[in-house]
Amino acid sequence: MPVKPRKILVTSALPYVNGSPHMGHLVGYLQTDIWVRFQKLRGHDCLYVCASDTHGTPIMIKARELGITPEALTERYGAEFERDFADFGIEFDNYHTTHSPENEALTVEMFEALKANGDIDTRPIEQAYDEKEGLFLPDRFVRGTCPNCGSGDQYGDSCEVCGATYSPSDLIDPVSVLSGTTPVKRESEHYFFKLGNYETKLKAWMQSAGLDRNVVAKLDEWFDAGLRDWDISRDAPYFGFRIPGTTDKYFYVWLDAPVGYPASFKNLCDRRDDLDFDEYWRPGNDTELYHFIGKDILYFHTLFWPAVLEGSGFRTPSSVFAHGFLTINGQKMSKSRGTFVKARSYLNHLDPSYLRYYYAAKLGPTIEDIDLNLDDFVARVNADLIGKLVNIASRCAGFIGKRFDGRLAAALPDQDLFDRFASESETIAAHYERREYSKAMRLIMTLADEANRYIDERKPWIMAREENRGAEVQQVCTQGLNLFRSLTIYLSPVVPAVADAAREFLDENRWTWEDAQRPLLGSVIRKFTPLLTRVETDPVNRMLAEGADAGTHG
Ligand code: MSP
Ligand code: ZN
Repeated sequence: MPVKPRKILVTSALPYVNGSPHMGHLVGYLQTDIWVRFQKLRGHDCLYVCASDTHGTPIMIKARELGITPEALTERYGAEFERDFADFGIEFDNYHTTHSPENEALTVEMFEALKANGDIDTRPIEQAYDEKEGLFLPDRFVRGTCPNCGSGDQYGDSCEVCGATYSPSDLIDPVSVLSGTTPVKRESEHYFFKLGNYETKLKAWMQSAGLDRNVVAKLDEWFDAGLRDWDISRDAPYFGFRIPGTTDKYFYVWLDAPVGYPASFKNLCDRRDDLDFDEYWRPGNDTELYHFIGKDILYFHTLFWPAVLEGSGFRTPSSVFAHGFLTINGQKMSKSRGTFVKARSYLNHLDPSYLRYYYAAKLGPTIEDIDLNLDDFVARVNADLIGKLVNIASRCAGFIGKRFDGRLAAALPDQDLFDRFASESETIAAHYERREYSKAMRLIMTLADEANRYIDERKPWIMAREENRGAEVQQVCTQGLNLFRSLTIYLSPVVPAVADAAREFLDENRWTWEDAQRPLLGSVIRKFTPLLTRVETDPVNRMLAEGADAGTHG
């Protein structure tokens, strides 16, 4: 048992709520949820907060198209995210929104502090402006012919054909995606954060944060390229927070988005007497702060965000944990290829425990992409969760139930074997701690093989037919069920629903990680019902068909 519980605050990237959750999103939220559940099971004070990311041009435009307010749009999709997260067993201590008073207050506080330091500059810039729609166009809202290779209909910031990057003003025959008219150039005053002021501190932070080496490599690249000023303002009309002292300037969505982390936590503190905001967000405390994110948003979390925190009197993250992107059957998720799968489509056909296990079996601590290969998914889940884990219990439970009124033996016939499982506890825990989930899963399944081998060798089903071997049957099955119990405790951060069902079957109230050190003996257990059934291929195909359908009809 840890001498002193750690105080840990954990976040996942705040989902941008202009669409529905999909299988790719789930990688990060499941990775985080598993880590948080593991910390809680170990007895630490671990809190997990998140929020909907609600501001910016894409949301404003989509709301316009639908003829609703951005508030209504983000509430609708935010609720969808919350529902899907809950149905996948992702459990937050708080889920908030960036469109909140807490977030506005903290964003303004940080901005004012940076301004007082001399970290904010203002200067005019020229941008594409859509006169018909009456707004400045982000790069992605301008399309035209690539100035490099001449391919038509390319984005304003880069060409998908030749890979060149440029600014929208370089495009040949630029067109506004919104109105189809030719944008004009218009000048306006913007606010910039002088990121370069923080180079030395960021380098020190990078050293202390124990980042993955691929992340460090990226950061080194960015340092070498030079830290440029960051444009943190946008002109009205914009859905976001107005910059104090202006009438028509707003904070860029990426300034207030990460502030959603402390803002969500603040919102939680206001409802919980036992939590102190400053203990988690001001320097000089021994609390820990971790951000789980996808690799595409590293720049924001390892440069901008620590610099903003540093400059405004807040603590910096203990570390940032980045994961890779999901592909489905080896392909990028795409509607046209039928590999775009909404989280809800999965839930309509399949048990969330399967996916939680499958992702865990594939996840490591690096930014390497992970593939959801659906044949492999079916094979892996059936082999491991059903064939190895659940099988141990189903081979032993019946005998205990029918022959011994559900009572477990008073002692284990093979204490050494139980102790071997117990002795792997710290190795498995270290794997979880380092986000080496695939290693943890492999080790647990190796132990499951051992447990099955034990039962195969003792053959309780043969003993049961022989005379005078009743006590032995009870002991062997008690051994088997205890091995199953230890493994299920180890797996419970990954498959909490299966673990809950198993715990109820064993008639126990609560599990901690330490419970795998002591066997359950002499007590009466409940009737066994299958804890999880096999995955079939039909529902997998129906799920994919739903995705393909969504592709055809929008
Ligand atoms: N709103 C920003 C994050 C702000 S954090 C202060 C954002 N939102 S997002 O909805 O686009 O993505 C949310 C998370 O899902 C990010 O961590 C992103 O990397 C992750 N993923 C989105 N698509 C993904 C895959 N296909 N695969 C794995 N993760 C993916 O970014
Ligand atoms: Zn090109």
